[in-house]
Amino acid sequence: MSMHTRLFIPGPVDVATDVLLKMATPQIGHRTKEASVLQKSIHDKMQKVFYTENRIMLSTSSGSGFMEGSIRSCTRKKAAVFSIGAFGDRWYKMAVANNVPADKFSSEPGQPTLPADVEKALATGLYDVVTVTHNETSVGIQNPVEEIGEVIKTYNADKADEEKVLYLVDAVSSAAGAKIEVDACGIDCLITATQKALGLPAGLSICSFSQRAYNAAKQVPFRGLYFDMVEIFDTIDKKNHQYPSTPSLAHMFALDYQLDRIMLEGIENRFARHTEMSKYVRNWAKKHFGILVTDEKYASKTLTTILKPEGFDLKELNKRLAMRGYTVSDGYGKMKDKTFRIAHMADNTLADVRGLLFEIEDILGLK
Ligand SMILES: Cc1ncc(COP(=O)(O)O)c(C=O)c1O
Repeated sequence: MSMHTRLFIPGPVDVATDVLLKMATPQIGHRTKEASVLQKSIHDKMQKVFYTENRIMLSTSSGSGFMEGSIRSCTRKKAAVFSIGAFGDRWYKMAVANNVPADKFSSEPGQPTLPADVEKALATGLYDVVTVTHNETSVGIQNPVEEIGEVIKTYNADKADEEKVLYLVDAVSSAAGAKIEVDACGIDCLITATQKALGLPAGLSICSFSQRAYNAAKQVPFRGLYFDMVEIFDTIDKKNHQYPSTPSLAHMFALDYQLDRIMLEGIENRFARHTEMSKYVRNWAKKHFGILVTDEKYASKTLTTILKPEGFDLKELNKRLAMRGYTVSDGYGKMKDKTFRIAHMADNTLADVRGLLFEIEDILGLK
């Protein structure tokens, strides 16, 4: 096997060896009390990471699993899908592929979803679901989910329960690296995945799911089966934290352990570490290249999208970085040719990031 290169790409991320080893825990029966205890333990710890009292649900899939499951299970009338890049577009594609009525609202390239955009769409009265990407990984932009939440709360204030709009948020590349207060924002479903800021291998999708979302989803006749949010919610409730199908217990052993590590660091310290790394990389990138995001208020905490200068050869840089034990990421989607990305998430520290940037400076002869 070739030498391992440290991953500064937006997932999968490097996983601490002790966390990886937890995946080798001997298997247990998934219908045992032990499995229930494990699943409840993850549930309670994830509630702290998400700042919520809502039910936490796990799925043996990558993050896309709950994105597809939530839009299909929750949309009764029509979904308003707000997109600022490739992953917002993906949520819209999922709606179309599942015959879920949806409209897509795209921001100008490099711009966030603004609360006013959401307000305007809701004023039509056509929608009962809003989807927002918290951290759009293709462009390195973080959307103002709190302000958008206020707009949705105001819209819902005088509506009967069945008329209320549900708020679904994709935090696949940011949860556990950036603070998202689910209950304070009024988020009905917050989705993440293990292979990003949580610092585990890919394989589990994790979401919070509100009682309101559950009640609404019950009105939807065809929710699919594997990602039926009602079925998963009911099984957790009625069978004491069990799941409808066989979950990846290996991931659960590791996630439960990693959540202890996260609590040991302190969740607020973890967010502060991500903010510190993001500021450092942005300042460095501005000095040497330029960054995509125009208003730094919306800059991602978990990755930085950097403008490629004329003739910049990312492949060549990565080849030379690999010899020194590092990898960074190319641009993604429509921004592939114009940008490259440096991720700073999960268990990486400022010292790790500085080590990477030092090597890039040395290779490119940056002063
Ligand atoms: C913002 C965002 N949403 C959704 C996804 C899809 O997640 P997954 O690859 O875990 O299915 C990704 C993956 O990179 C992402 O960054």
